[in-house]
Amino acid sequence: MLHKLDTPMSLFTQKLGAALTMEHDVLKMLEELEREARHEDIKPLFRHHAQETYEHIARIERAFAALGQEPDKKPCPAMKALRVEAKANIELAKGEIVDDVVLAAAAETEHHEIAVYEELIIYAEAMGRQDVAELMRQNLEQEQRALEKLRTAAERIAEETLQPA
Ligand SMILES: [Fe+2]
Ligand SMILES: [Fe+2]
Repeated sequence: MLHKLDTPMSLFTQKLGAALTMEHDVLKMLEELEREARHEDIKPLFRHHAQETYEHIARIERAFAALGQEPDKKPCPAMKALRVEAKANIELAKGEIVDDVVLAAAAETEHHEIAVYEELIIYAEAMGRQDVAELMRQNLEQEQRALEKLRTAAERIAEETLQPA
């Protein structure tokens, strides 16, 4: 159900609900990216972050509980669009260039997640909810570390696959 965002809490729970939808879609995307990746050594990156993504979902649910609310999913079309774009580019990519596409899709997703958690932390702190901010900070830190690993992998794979002929 759509509510007007007319109180700090209604804004926060709207964004938290969208983050919950986002993380469920991230899980699906990570499974797809792991399946599509050609280099065996990048598959564990996706598998490991999928495990962390289950933790992200659990922390969002704990944040709802801390606020005395049931987890309530809200639309997150941005994440769905990232998934659609990734699928389309994977279909177009030839050979090992698939891995550049897969790593780009994952990195773009992490950037989106990072923006979402940074905002949720700002709101939770402004509302004086350090407990909820801390849960979001734990998610943020895992997203930042995931992005670092993806960047390192993207540099390595690009050097290998995108050399001029
Ligand atoms: Fe996440
Ligand atoms: Fe992530």
